This record gives sequence, C-alpha cells and structure tokens, in this order.
Amino acid sequence: MCGIVGYIGNKKACPILIAGLTRLEYRGYDSAGVSTIEKNGLSLMKTKGRVKNLNDLKGIDKLEGTIGIAHTRWATHGKPSNENSHPHQDNSKTFSVVHNGIIENYAELKNLLEEKGYHFYSQTDTEVIPNLIHYYFLKDKEDNSTMKFLKAVRNACLDLKGSFAIEVISSYFPDNMIVVRKDSPLVIGTCENEKYISSDIPAILSYTRDFYLLNNLEFTILSKNSAKFFDTELNEIKKKLDVIEWNSSAAEKDGYDDFMLKEIYEQPSAVRETIGSRISNDLKCEIEELKFSKKQLQEITKIYIVACGTAMHAGLSGKNTIEKICRIPTEVDIASEFRYRDPIIDKNTLCIFISQSGETADTIAALKLAKSKGATTLAISNVIGSSITREADYSIYTHAGPEIAVASTKAYTSQVALINIIAIYFAEILQSTKSEYLNFLKQELLSLPKKIEETLKCKDQIFEFAKKVYQEKDMFFLGRGVDETVAKEGSLKLKEISYIHSESYAAGELKHGPIALIENGITVVGIMTDENLVEKTVSNIQEVITRGAKTLIITNQKINYNNFNEVIIIPEIAPFISPILSVIPLQLLSYFISKEKGLDVDKPRNLAKSVTVE
Ligand code: M6R
Repeated sequence: MCGIVGYIGNKKACPILIAGLTRLEYRGYDSAGVSTIEKNGLSLMKTKGRVKNLNDLKGIDKLEGTIGIAHTRWATHGKPSNENSHPHQDNSKTFSVVHNGIIENYAELKNLLEEKGYHFYSQTDTEVIPNLIHYYFLKDKEDNSTMKFLKAVRNACLDLKGSFAIEVISSYFPDNMIVVRKDSPLVIGTCENEKYISSDIPAILSYTRDFYLLNNLEFTILSKNSAKFFDTELNEIKKKLDVIEWNSSAAEKDGYDDFMLKEIYEQPSAVRETIGSRISNDLKCEIEELKFSKKQLQEITKIYIVACGTAMHAGLSGKNTIEKICRIPTEVDIASEFRYRDPIIDKNTLCIFISQSGETADTIAALKLAKSKGATTLAISNVIGSSITREADYSIYTHAGPEIAVASTKAYTSQVALINIIAIYFAEILQSTKSEYLNFLKQELLSLPKKIEETLKCKDQIFEFAKKVYQEKDMFFLGRGVDETVAKEGSLKLKEISYIHSESYAAGELKHGPIALIENGITVVGIMTDENLVEKTVSNIQEVITRGAKTLIITNQKINYNNFNEVIIIPEIAPFISPILSVIPLQLLSYFISKEKGLDVDKPRNLAKSVTVE
C-alpha cells in the first residue's frame, strides 16, 4: 500500500525519484523519502506528509548520486512521522531499504535483533529488514562481493513472513541495487545504461516501454547496464522482457483538473478497448485468453465472483448476467470474507477474481485459497503481469489504461463490460440462451462507447445538482435488480471522495427499517433502468417523497418525471449492461460534490489506490 521507486544510471537520481514518487502518490501520502549513494556514503532525506514536502528539505538539491531509492507511505505500523518514514537504515547506516507490504513477524525478528545488540528508532515493521541484512552480511566471512550482498538480502527475506517489495542499496556497493518482491508489486524498466524500478508501470512509462515483471522471490541484482535474476537458491534465471503498449500520456492529467475527471471521460475509449476484438462487428464473440470446451463448462456447477470494493460491485452486476444467460448459480463475495469462511469449493467450481490493480491482498489470498481447493480460477485485471494474473489459471485484461485516481471509475465500467462478454462467451458455448438474444446483447455492447458519450452530456445538470446538495450529511441510493448494484457503487463513490455518509438499499427493502431515517429534505437517488422493475421502484421512491425526501432519478424508462426534483435521462440499453451508463451520473455527482467541498478528489483521506495489506 506504499509506492516505491528506484533509479540507476548516469543522471542525478533524486529528481527522477521525486518525479516517480509524485506519480505513485495515489498509493499513499502519509510521508515520503529518498536515499541515494553519494561519494561520502548513503544520503537519507525523509519527511512526514506529501511528496512535494521533500523539495523543502535542506540539502536535497545538493544530492549528486546516480543510484537511489524512494518511497511514499500509507501508514500501517506506526503513525505518519519523520521517524516512521522510509527509507530505513541499519544501525551502521550501510544499507538503505524501502519496503511496500507488511512484515507479519516483525516483532519476533525485532526481539531477536535486539538480543544481538541492534537498536530500533521507528515503530515500523520495515526497520527490521536493513538490520537483518546487515546481520547476515557481517555473519558471512567471505570477501565483499555483489553475491555476498545478494546472499545477505536473500537470507533476510527468507526470514520474513508477510508481503514485501523491497529495494536495497549499500554504501559498500556503489554501482548496485538489489530488488525483490513477494506478494507486493514491483517492476523494472530498462533502457540503455539505465534501470528504473517502480511499484507500477505508469510511474516510469515516460522513460521506457521495456519491463521485467518480477515473480515472487526472484532476487535481482541491478547495475546501470545489467539486470541479473536469481531464485531462492541463488541460481541465475533468465527472464524475458515485456514491452508495454500504453504511452506515458495515459498516466498524465492531459489538461483535466483531476485524474478522476479524466478517467470518467476516458470511459468511451476504455470500454471500446475492453471490447476490442472480443466482439466483432459481425457479432462473433471470442476471448483468446479463454479456451473452455462445452464439456468443461457443463461440469461447472457453481461460480464465485470474488473481489473488493468497486470491483466487487462489478461482480454483482456480472452475477445477474451469468445466472440469467448461462444458468449457472453464481455467488458474489467480498474477498476478505470469502477467504475466512471456508467456502464450499471443489473441482467443479469456477472462481472469478476481479481486481483493477491485481494486487489487492485479500483478493490474492482468496485466489490462492480457491486454487488450493481445486477450483478453476480466472482473473480479471487491468494491470499487465499483476499478481492475480500470475496466480490464476486464466487471466483476462480489461485494457482500460492506467487508472490513477483512488476512486475507481473506468476500471468499474470496463469490468462490467468484460464480465458481460465472458457471460456471453459461456452462454454461446453452453447454448443456454437463444442466439438471437446473445446477438442483441453483443450489439448493445458495441453501442456502448457512443452511449457513454451521450450519457456524459449530463455533466452540467449534475454539476448544478451537486451545488444544491454538497453540504448534506446523509444520502440514500435505491434501486432494484441490477440497479441496486449501481446504487451500491454510487454510494461508495460518494463516501469515498465527498465524505458524505450514504446508504444504498434494494428499493423494496427500505420499508423494512431504513425508511425510519428518511426525513424532510434528505436526498434520495433512485436508479431505474429495468422496465420489469421500474414501476416497483417508482412506488418505493414515492414512499420517500411522501416523507419529505428530495429525489435525483437516473433512468432510461418512460415514467412521469413531474414527481421528482431532478431527472437524468440516459440512453436506452439492455438492463444487464445498463450499470455502465447509469453509474456515470453518480461518478460525476461525487466528483462535483467533492470539488464543491474543496477536497482532494484524487487522493481522498485515509485511502490508497491499491490495498496490498490485509
Ligand atoms: O485494485 P482492486 O480493484 O482490487 O481494488 C479494489 C478496491 O480497493 C477498489 O475498488 C476501491 O473500492 C476503490 N477505491 C473504489 O473506488
């Protein structure tokens, strides 16, 4: 849940590191720091707060080193403070380390090291790492060599329980850096005489498109012109380069005030990329990453869709489509619950894991559990080479382009599009739904980019509505069927970036309790896109109007608009796919409320983009 960057080359490392941290700040913004190899040893500059605070540190502009590591923190162990900021060093200040992840046995390791005379100056779990490396380095009586350095890092890492992506530099080895990851992301970008290391690809995409994607416990010794990889036995291994197709402007704001707004506006192209050649104009549905036979699919007796947050909401809308057109019982679960509830899984279970980042700790753990119980696993992710895609039997990418804002927007709509495509692909093989209806759904999917553009035209209307409601304390979101899944997503978005308390309910459930909270003037948002359910939802909305609520309605149905305060009309679309359109006014609503309140839209308080800790 932190961001790490590294550089080795001929240029001054510090400005490159700070630029990289700025791009990774979405991963955590409690503190920031850098360490470089200078002529007189390791530098260490760190501070509480945002990355930009680093520029105020005395002497930071004097750093000349061409090798360095850097970190932006989302605090887990120890409050945000200068002492708890990374990088951390061993007692002799020979090794500097940055770390993303959690060391679960740090207390035990700390005790052992204290018994050996080491002192600790922070409350972090990370500080054990440089001291352990130092301990193993001293214990090894061989002459200093990069292999001795590597062995010390390897020995330290084998003692660690939990997750980590780490970068290590040492004043003994002024030309090298060692990096390794386990269940936390880390990539290495390479170009002539330079190596860039980062928690994600977009942060360093302006320097190179050639990347090494590290697997768990692949120990890497870097110099400016080489990258050597070793397994845990320290046997050298070969790795292939991956060439990334995104360009760096995909990770810039491009004239928008905020990444979130840019990403909302990127949805027509993001969804177009998701559909790609998976549905052709002559209505063929092919997913090249999937090779299921009819027999295999017929043997699947149950599907679980497992994810967190917004990705889980995409799963909820996917359940509707899969059950309806594939006729396979489908359950959606929150990854942090699934992993501890002993789910009933066997070889006839298909488990689908959805994660934009592909690095969410609970989702990874749930995937490992499902695999260990014999399920077939399928990962849906936006990030090439991310952890869940490496663990799963099958992986499919949304291809939505980098999503930087903490609040997920285009990732959600592309996930909903992709899970619908998967459902169509299964239904076609299973012949579980008439081909005419499947073709209709395919046409509806192909019409999406245009209809999303159409929907985005509600921006001004939503902006005016946001100005009326931004000071409210509570809001309700209601819907039925697939619209309820969008109500959940709208409510999460509002909480996340506007800090307004909100609840989402299946519209019919309201009168079983929550209606007691409806009082004069409260805002209720109703979503109605399913002609079979619209009348029922209208009745439920009527019940809250009677109790004094003011209403914002998102619909593509023919209803009497006079009863409502504000109605946003979105294009007609098949209900299964409607979340991709109906969520857009809700994304814009949270965005404009957050702006009206003067909040940091892209970096909401207490949050980080990917939750790589449990
Ligand atoms: O990277 P993931 O899709 O696994 O992330 C899951 C959630 O943490 C994420 O969707 C979160 O709920 C978003 N910040 C919501 O906007």
